Amino acid sequence: MSEPSSPLEEIIVVAVDGPAGSGKSTVARAVAARLGLSYLDTGAMYRSVAHAALCEDIDTEDGERMAELARRLRIEVGEQVLVDGVDCTRAIRSSEVTRAVTAAAANPQVRAEMVRRQRLWVQDRGGGVVEGRDIGTVVFPDARLKVFLTASPEERARRRAAEAGDAVATDITRRDQADSSRAHSPLATAEDAVTIDTTERTVDDVVDEITGLLAQRQLPGKGW
Ligand code: DC
Repeated sequence: MSEPSSPLEEIIVVAVDGPAGSGKSTVARAVAARLGLSYLDTGAMYRSVAHAALCEDIDTEDGERMAELARRLRIEVGEQVLVDGVDCTRAIRSSEVTRAVTAAAANPQVRAEMVRRQRLWVQDRGGGVVEGRDIGTVVFPDARLKVFLTASPEERARRRAAEAGDAVATDITRRDQADSSRAHSPLATAEDAVTIDTTERTVDDVVDEITGLLAQRQLPGKGW
């Protein structure tokens, strides 16, 4: 691994957490573009591990084999998602992977490896907008700004349906329950996070609010 390109005190991290369909990806990507920061979708990392497990016929409940897999895989998340050099951008969004990812993301050893990589990713880029479930609570507890996005259940189901097709309302409820109730790093709002309800708001409007909040926090001396 190369030396980090920026000292920690210069690094700006914007943590964007929230449940499925809350608008995280769209908003986080747009905030990153507006600010000229890199953007990391950490859900794509857990999906990559789940996808590889399905490909290699590894039981996602087998903690040790999943941990070994997570440590061994080369995962590159950007415009495309490459797993060991293979383009899995579409494959990781399949309903099979969406089902399998719950167990992968509940595995503490898999999580530890992903968190380690997420921190290195940010250090290498000198900051970034990072979206997930535990970014403000676990991965970057000192993030410059933590945003927790929500939306009404109807709106979240509608957004997912627009992306993925049928039967997603049930799936969203199942995933929210699993993500929020697991033992390790459950989906939770950080104490110092700003909660933004994106229901019936435009992306631009939400991005304006987030960049405005960040502008108020350009304080000297604090890391991340
Ligand atoms: O954001 P997404 O739907 O692509 O995330 C896929 C799964 O990964 C989801 O069930 C929650 C989990 N996840 C997680 O546990 N921690 C993260 N930082 C990101 C995603």
